[in-house]
Amino acid sequence: MAVQISPSILSADFSRLADEATRVEGIADWLHVDVMDNHFVPNLTLGLPIVESLLKATSLPIDCHLMIESPDRWAPSYAEAGAGSVTIHAEAAKAPVRTLRAIRSAGARSGFALNPATPIDYYEDLLPEIDMLLVMTVEPGFGGQKFLDVVLPKLARARALIEKHGGEVWLQVDGGVSAETIERCAEAGADVFVAGSAVYGAHDAAQAVRDLRALAAGAQQS
Ligand code: DX5
Ligand code: ZN
Repeated sequence: MAVQISPSILSADFSRLADEATRVEGIADWLHVDVMDNHFVPNLTLGLPIVESLLKATSLPIDCHLMIESPDRWAPSYAEAGAGSVTIHAEAAKAPVRTLRAIRSAGARSGFALNPATPIDYYEDLLPEIDMLLVMTVEPGFGGQKFLDVVLPKLARARALIEKHGGEVWLQVDGGVSAETIERCAEAGADVFVAGSAVYGAHDAAQAVRDLRALAAGAQQS
């Protein structure tokens, strides 16, 4: 499981998104873009037009995390626009199989996210439809929240289920991931790490990505 780091621009300067993407280009694996609609989560960020602009402004593949109420309606458009990965939430999707398939048919990786209180076991049979499972380690909506250790057992169970189904699905963590918490996530089986404040709150964002990657890789080997 190669470690992948996906810096979240939620903690970047929104007036200079292209420059903020450039800070981690060639260092990070993805650029994580949090789409929030003020309904599924109590916060409002950005939508498709900004994602389309960002796609032109960076060479990094875009990892779109849709925290919106109607992912079935909107997710395929993000994939058609050129996002490399599009993640919908289990709690919001009404037709997850159809939507995950639509994301794949539009050429993106299909992502499926679980809030801290949403069990993984219920969704085991959907794993063949999923390219990346996202286990949230905060309640979604805001950057800079405290990491929820209570989610770690679910992360480990998700890894076990993924292995049972052939080990192809990437396992992403998002929320409170930092130099202090990333090793716990890697030990529990995560391989794709979203970090917002830990990267964009750092003076040297590229170095923060390198440090996080080294910590996660070290923890995977131990
Ligand atoms: C929270 C978002 C995260 C956020 C993480 O709902 O999904 O991607 O940017 O921020 P940090 O890493 O600061 O917890
Ligand atoms: Zn996110």
